[in-house]
Amino acid sequence: AASQMWGGRFARGPAAIMETINASIGFDRRLADQDIAGSKAHAAMLANRGIIAPEDAAAIRDGLDRVKAEIDSGAFVFKTELEDIHMNVEARLAELIGEPAKRLHTARSRNDQVATDFRLWVRDAIDRLDGGLKALQAALIDLAEANADAVMPGFTHLQAAQPVTFGHHLLAYVEMLGRDRGRMADARARLNECPLGAAALAGTPFPIDRHATAAALGFDRPAANSLDAVSDRDFALEYMAAASICAMHLSRFAEEIVLWCSDQFRFIRLSDAFTTGSSIMPQKKNPDAAELVRAKSGRVIGSLNSLLITMKGLPLAYSKDMQEDKEPVFLTDDTLALCVAAMEGMVRDMVPNRASMRAAAERGFLTATDLADWLVRVLGMPFREAHHVTGRAVKLAEEGGKTLSELTLDELRSVEPRITEDVHAVLTVEASVAGRRSFGGTAPERVREAVKAARERFL
Ligand code: ARG
Repeated sequence: AASQMWGGRFARGPAAIMETINASIGFDRRLADQDIAGSKAHAAMLANRGIIAPEDAAAIRDGLDRVKAEIDSGAFVFKTELEDIHMNVEARLAELIGEPAKRLHTARSRNDQVATDFRLWVRDAIDRLDGGLKALQAALIDLAEANADAVMPGFTHLQAAQPVTFGHHLLAYVEMLGRDRGRMADARARLNECPLGAAALAGTPFPIDRHATAAALGFDRPAANSLDAVSDRDFALEYMAAASICAMHLSRFAEEIVLWCSDQFRFIRLSDAFTTGSSIMPQKKNPDAAELVRAKSGRVIGSLNSLLITMKGLPLAYSKDMQEDKEPVFLTDDTLALCVAAMEGMVRDMVPNRASMRAAAERGFLTATDLADWLVRVLGMPFREAHHVTGRAVKLAEEGGKTLSELTLDELRSVEPRITEDVHAVLTVEASVAGRRSFGGTAPERVREAVKAARERFL
């Protein structure tokens, strides 16, 4: 049979394969709440403007509440032949309330309808994600506070570079996540314009009130241009771009967790709750959750890429291509929410091995820069020369199997005769981190201040 929705012009229904390629109900049913909210706002506005009768608007409103209850309870039967969530809801409404349901689609198209629903959905997703990221920041800040003075090696090129504190390292991720939340908030502010009332693409001759529907749905204003309103998917792309950057951050952190809990590093222990065993090697405790966070970033980044490619050749205004906007966004949201929650769990359970971190910081002459700085500060030596002198001290320590702070004063003087005993005060890893008191530096006292500031800025 020809479709109920546009049967007038059609002599026969779609081929089975057409129905399959055309239907979006399999995934866009996730827009049900937003679709019903949009329809209620639209119907109320139509009645307020005298476009439909108040009784019809009331019947539509109550009917939509019943549809929502059916969907929430699982009783609703989604039909592929009705293509998408919009027509499924409208058709069921007609079954429930009859005649008035046929007036709902006045001054509206599925083009502005879906654009509105989808914006509402992405807005909700951003708000949920913000809560998850904040909880992850809270877990990191707590762990940073407890480890403000835990010395570990800091790396460049993954080569041990200078001692830092574990708390400082964790707070670096708190900053990244703060920017991720900021990007999401920026995207949210820009997406919060309402497409409803743009109709198919050109607007409508009915005396609608777009400001009223925008306000009723929590939008800041109606979208200014009807063509843009139905064809813009920037909001989804921005959301996925911000999500991709966030997923990249989580992936970097996941990679560090994988390294840190290896036997070669032993900086942390993950809880049993976030690791798995091996079916063959009894000694293993694998960081699967971290590995999967690292891997799943690929889906998020891939989703952004897929929608960019879908959109880039589309002329104005709506094209059916744009139905393909939803799955990448849903996949992004599902994936990122899962990764954020898994990360929070891992961080909450993570046990740092302070002794092992400290021992690693002792290896590799990480206080060499501190010796060079001392030569500059105390002896007035030019830094380039101090660098050279320190290099000879490192060589001496290496040959003697010692750390820099284990070199005797005589040994140090064999490299530079003007060195005095007080140099030893700067050669320990503790002295090194304590000395880095510049704003944003790794000194424990600065880390404690940064913990406080982070709580105020982010939590
Ligand atoms: N299912 C469609 C989508 O998600 C709804 C809009 C359809 N509009 C149209 N003119 N066929 O994009």
